[in-house]
Amino acid sequence: MKSENIFDKNIEYNGYRKLHAIFFKIHKYINRFSQRAKSQADKFAFEQFKMKFGEREDDIYISTFPKSGTTLTQMILYQLTTDGNMDFDHIYDVSPWIRNSSFLGKEVPDLPSPRIIKTHDYYKYFQKQIKGKFIFVYRNGMDVAVSMFHQNKNYNNQNLKAEKYIDSFIKKNKKDWFNYTKGWLRNKNNFPILYLKYEDLLNNKEQEIRKIIEFCNLKPDEDAIKRALKYSSFESMKKHENKFGEQMQKAPEKVFNQFIRKGISGEGKVEFSEKQQSIFAKRFSETIKKLEGNIFN
Ligand code: A3P
Repeated sequence: MKSENIFDKNIEYNGYRKLHAIFFKIHKYINRFSQRAKSQADKFAFEQFKMKFGEREDDIYISTFPKSGTTLTQMILYQLTTDGNMDFDHIYDVSPWIRNSSFLGKEVPDLPSPRIIKTHDYYKYFQKQIKGKFIFVYRNGMDVAVSMFHQNKNYNNQNLKAEKYIDSFIKKNKKDWFNYTKGWLRNKNNFPILYLKYEDLLNNKEQEIRKIIEFCNLKPDEDAIKRALKYSSFESMKKHENKFGEQMQKAPEKVFNQFIRKGISGEGKVEFSEKQQSIFAKRFSETIKKLEGNIFN
């Protein structure tokens, strides 16, 4: 005869629950390990890609926190350094984002000098960087948050709410906008960096283009400057949006059509609640206010 215990429903249930808990822990551990292993694999693939890509004295890195005017600046530099042919399929073919290219398993591109390279990497990542120059494009952080929110909503999660996204944007995190920007503005290693403001690119583009020309020691003729102005206009880039939209790692065939979205400044002030604005202001003054003032005022 079977013991009462064996048929005790509660005990039976508890047993399964324990086994479930154990195997769920194993599953979570393996998952975490697998994610770490994938990110290490990606890292080594990128290192290999970079080795092949090499470094040149006249490389120009456009360094930005995402949604700060990277693509606009890529377009300006592409026009200034080439004959401006718009026949390319995607801006990455002529101005690569090499970290993304390596993740997507693309070929190392063979590009004429000067190469215009996009990066969203943290400053400290470039400790060993010795060749090339940097153009750092800075945009009002609250506007960056709104632009990021729209990109995330459009690409990843249609149900995403602005309030929730903004809360996560201003929450302290080693990799947040404040820390990212602080590293680049502080420029501990004295890299040659030209600092531009997205807002100045909107309002005074020709002046900013001339700064770029001088800093990068370029010799464009006046036609190239006119072309840079024309093809980097919001209207022109919107018209050619399929050449600029982000290419996703998970769905590289997809090109989204909200990448060239509004191209204005001041949305942050509208979308951030008063409380969010005050948290932003506090974090801003704790991290980058002084550095920002020294560079741009
Ligand atoms: P919004 O989402 O606020 O409109 P990045 O290239 O770094 O991802 O930045 C994207 C932001 O720059 C988007 O901001 C996009 O609309 C804006 N942008 C892209 N091309 C532009 C242009 N030619 N002029 C002004 N803004 C532009």
